[in-house]
Amino acid sequence: MEQPSVDTNTPYYRLGGPPVFEAIANRFYDLMDSDPAYAELRAMHAPDLTPIRASLPRFLIAWAGGPRDWFEQNPGRCMMSLHAPFTIEPLTANQWAEAMERAIDDVAPQPAEIAASMREVLGRMARGMGRRG
Ligand code: HEM
Repeated sequence: MEQPSVDTNTPYYRLGGPPVFEAIANRFYDLMDSDPAYAELRAMHAPDLTPIRASLPRFLIAWAGGPRDWFEQNPGRCMMSLHAPFTIEPLTANQWAEAMERAIDDVAPQPAEIAASMREVLGRMARGMGRRG
């Protein structure tokens, strides 16, 4: 019987799969929850971060070329519709970007050059979201 094919040439696969994305998301929310440098960003989020700790890594996994469960379970949802209810100021956009950059640095996934690309793209994406209005 044929095995289902796995695309090993994705950032998702090459960085180490779910445990790496879960570690980055958990570190990101630990930082957001504990460092006053991210107080404004923290205040925008629900008091209980448990649901988003589960959801962000699944979103990032799909975004990085892995299984698309998050998108299948959230039909029609995208970055824009997710964040439409929020006014994202440059301050909070920068806090998101910095906390994510720190989280990726702390988890330090390998290969380092793929981690650096992901860090760069996520930082740019988040900072870009803060210039909308
Ligand atoms: C630019 C600054 C950003 C701010 C201020 C921000 C803020 C928020 C807030 C307040 C929520 C709702 C959380 C809650 O109710 O507790 C949320 C949800 C979410 N955000 Fe962001 N966000 C930002 C950037 C990003 C980026 C760059 C990504 C992904 C690359 C992302 C992915 C998500 C996901 C996946 C969810 C939750 C999805 C779900 O409900 O399943 N966010 N964000």
